[in-house]
Amino acid sequence: MLAGLNAPHKSIPTWLLYDARGMELFEAICQTDEYYLTRTELSILRENIQEMADLIGPETLLIEYGSGTGQKTQLLLDHLKEPVAYIPIEISREALRQATKELCERYPTLPVLPVCADYTSHYELPELPFEPARRAVFFPGSTIGNFEPEEAKNFMSHIAEAVGKGGSVLVGVDLHKDAETLEKAYDDAAGITAEFELNALEHINREFDANFRRDRFEYRSFYNRELQRIEMYLVSRERQNVRVDRTEIEFAEGEHILTEYSQKFTIEGFRSFAAEAGFSVGRVWLDDRSLFSVQYLERA
Ligand code: TRP
Repeated sequence: MLAGLNAPHKSIPTWLLYDARGMELFEAICQTDEYYLTRTELSILRENIQEMADLIGPETLLIEYGSGTGQKTQLLLDHLKEPVAYIPIEISREALRQATKELCERYPTLPVLPVCADYTSHYELPELPFEPARRAVFFPGSTIGNFEPEEAKNFMSHIAEAVGKGGSVLVGVDLHKDAETLEKAYDDAAGITAEFELNALEHINREFDANFRRDRFEYRSFYNRELQRIEMYLVSRERQNVRVDRTEIEFAEGEHILTEYSQKFTIEGFRSFAAEAGFSVGRVWLDDRSLFSVQYLERA
């Protein structure tokens, strides 16, 4: 439900950003000049994919959290040696359906076992009729940065359990850098990010019979240098009441609704974060400007 919307610091759960329109807008964000993450991660993957696939090893069961359109997945699957099955977990049914169809056409002998779920809450992995040699998780896009710090740790520990002994993770991790570059990436000049965030209000309206008016809110974000994270908010332009289901919620003028964080890491910081969840960092790949990293983790 609308967890936290009545709490002292109002916030919305992430999945409300990703209705069909949200998915479209998110794809558009990834193509803006300001949003360097997607293209930088792709270039790192393209340049090093064989080495990555070799580290993951043969006969692996590959699990992906938030598989989206599956573009990065294909790159990895093209280079993995004899993967035994692929499990994409994705909240957008349409994206999952489309990606699964494409993968089945491209890899006719690979079992693809899609799971439509919000992986931050309860979900179940399909049972396999055999025990794979090893399990690996693919978690690109620096999505790990969108969790609250405590949740991020819990989620990594959860992944450690999911891959088991000898398991590994290939994860995209965005890096700490100058605030200007970061702030532009999360507030593009064309306003697509703002549109993406405000769209969540319309999703809430449909999902919870609410009456948010998006023109009464505006998108604002900034880089919190101390905590090394982008903080994204919808700010109430005026004092107003909004009805969500049968509850009236009061907003003061200037009151912030937290939509998301995007945590940025140093290489060192991520190493100790991973260690706390039971992983050791086996290899780190960077682009030539050290904007972004892809990291290979092994269960310690
Ligand atoms: N994980 C990505 C990031 O933090 C994608 C993302 C999540 C995003 N929420 C966002 C991008 C909001 C732009 C705006 O960058």
